[in-house]
Amino acid sequence: MRGTRSSRSLWQAGLHGHTGHGPAFWQAIYDAETRPGWDMDGPTPLLNELLDMVRTLGLDPGPELAVPGCGFGHDAAELARKGFRVTGVDFTEAALEGARTRYGDLVTWRREDWFEGATTFDALFDDTCFVAMPPEARPAYVAACARRLRPGGLWLGAFFHTVKDPSGPPYPIAPESLRGLAEKDFQILHLAPAEHSHPRRAGREFLLVARRN
Ligand SMILES: C[S@@+](CC[C@H](N)C(=O)[O-])C[C@H]1O[C@@H](n2cnc3c(N)ncnc32)[C@H](O)[C@@H]1O
Repeated sequence: MRGTRSSRSLWQAGLHGHTGHGPAFWQAIYDAETRPGWDMDGPTPLLNELLDMVRTLGLDPGPELAVPGCGFGHDAAELARKGFRVTGVDFTEAALEGARTRYGDLVTWRREDWFEGATTFDALFDDTCFVAMPPEARPAYVAACARRLRPGGLWLGAFFHTVKDPSGPPYPIAPESLRGLAEKDFQILHLAPAEHSHPRRAGREFLLVARRN
């Protein structure tokens, strides 16, 4: 997920205390790189793996989904193509500009701080937003996810347990640490290694399906 070596110092700056890196931090990376290092130029293959797992569990994630920290919007657009009503949330203007350029009005794009928005959803699809949060921001991030899900809503996510450079972002997390953070507000239904990661991420990701209490 890290950008090129030239933007490395940008990753080290801009922490906003308990809510992580602020929009100026992310905007500087988008300004420095046409395609930031985390951008896969398409949806994560884990999107299908997560939706299959949801079906296996006999659950229905829809109809209204949010993608927090949507970046250029690939996952949000893919979910919209699958028939969900999707809101892509990002607080960085360059991210949403890139998303609109690529996918137009397929998704409702909302410029908003995930920690501050009020709209609630049936499900969240989280790919590289949680892991963009430094460890001290995790409790507030999980609380925001709980607040923004309707009761019974689903948090679907992909997370790094291993990264190449642990100084972050991305900040890796062990599955059991995520369980510990989430189980106050969520019932954990699936927590297991990912099987269909992008080749650049193979063997380093795990998946979560959790239901809000
Ligand atoms: C590492 S990028 C991942 C983008 C996208 N999920 C992807 O995989 O291509 C993290 C994104 O989260 C956004 N972000 C970080 N903190 C946020 C917050 N508190 N509210 C909304 N967006 C946030 C950043 O602007 C950035 O676009």
